[in-house]
Amino acid sequence: MNSIINNIEIIKAKTTKINDVDFDNLKFGHVFSDHMLECKFKDGEWQAPKVVPYQAINLDPSAKIFHYGQSVFEGMKAYKDTNENVWLFRPLENFKRLNISSKRLAIPELPENYFMDGLKTLLQVDNEWIPKKDGSSLYIRPFVFASGNGFHASPADEYTFIIACAPSGSYFSGKVRVLIEEKYSRSANGGVGFAKAGGNYAGQFYPTQLAIEKGYQQVIWTDDNTHEYIEEAGAMNIFVRINDTLITGPTSDRILDGITRKSIIQLAKAEGIPVEVRKLSVHEVVTAAKDGSLKEMFGAGTAAVISPIAGFGYKGEDFDLPEFEDTYASSLKKRITDIQTNKAKDPFGWRLKVE
Ligand code: PLP
Ligand code: COI
Repeated sequence: MNSIINNIEIIKAKTTKINDVDFDNLKFGHVFSDHMLECKFKDGEWQAPKVVPYQAINLDPSAKIFHYGQSVFEGMKAYKDTNENVWLFRPLENFKRLNISSKRLAIPELPENYFMDGLKTLLQVDNEWIPKKDGSSLYIRPFVFASGNGFHASPADEYTFIIACAPSGSYFSGKVRVLIEEKYSRSANGGVGFAKAGGNYAGQFYPTQLAIEKGYQQVIWTDDNTHEYIEEAGAMNIFVRINDTLITGPTSDRILDGITRKSIIQLAKAEGIPVEVRKLSVHEVVTAAKDGSLKEMFGAGTAAVISPIAGFGYKGEDFDLPEFEDTYASSLKKRITDIQTNKAKDPFGWRLKVE
């Protein structure tokens, strides 16, 4: 039956796919929930969003997304606690970042209530799709793309905003080995590196394929000018622990301002861990690996949560990180996931209950 919640029209799917899903063995982003939120921009304004059955999109071959890559996206998660309450983690940060990304790609910005009320309504409709198992969550993918037509290389006059959801397990299986990049660049000064633009990821696939052929899972990007400073990984910000200090690079117009990254910085400081946000050279990391002061490296991101790095390659040499218990990665991962899943108090006010 169709209905309206939070002023949003809901057109229900005729059947559910949920009985085909093995919630005990979820991969990342492989199966999709029954509904999606859809909202169109036309005649100079965003039209009212609707929850509709998850479905294929009908686009003209000249739609500008195909030719000029005008698209941005976000990544978020919904968690279900043991009392079946549903929680989001800092969702307004994702909303704000989506609009920051959109602005850079000349895409019209979304009103906050369309994003937030649309998301909450979608989560209510697809509540059963939010996994309860530890380590699983409903991965949420809001995205906006140029659905307007024409070969003229200029911004489209029509856009589509969709939120699709995928019940998901972990992004990486096991520890990650990374290759520090010496030749290719992910982003440049004045470019779009700080935006979650689809093209940023397309540009990473080829160098990442080369790294995978060499036995690594991810590339660590270095600055485009000198390749001497660590920036971030393909889908995560990077933290390095030298002795007892946790170090991460500053954000810039080349680096995504990760929500997990800034939460980890705050959590680590609150735990009394010395944190430095500063430029981190590859030379410093390699020297620390050689003299034994490099204790940990880990990636941080919504999909990846906190992913420990087992080792890295640089200029044909391989370096292994030590293995030990009570790492910063494991204690900070527990701190952040306990807050996200309502297992611990939320002193920073990061959690939002969906009701
Ligand atoms: N860096 C890149 C390139 C990413 O794609 C992501 C994932 O969203 C991150 C960092 C981490 O950002 P966040 O913690 O907001 O998910
Ligand atoms: C996320 O962590 O949500 C991301 O967007 C990374 C993605 C490329 C899987």
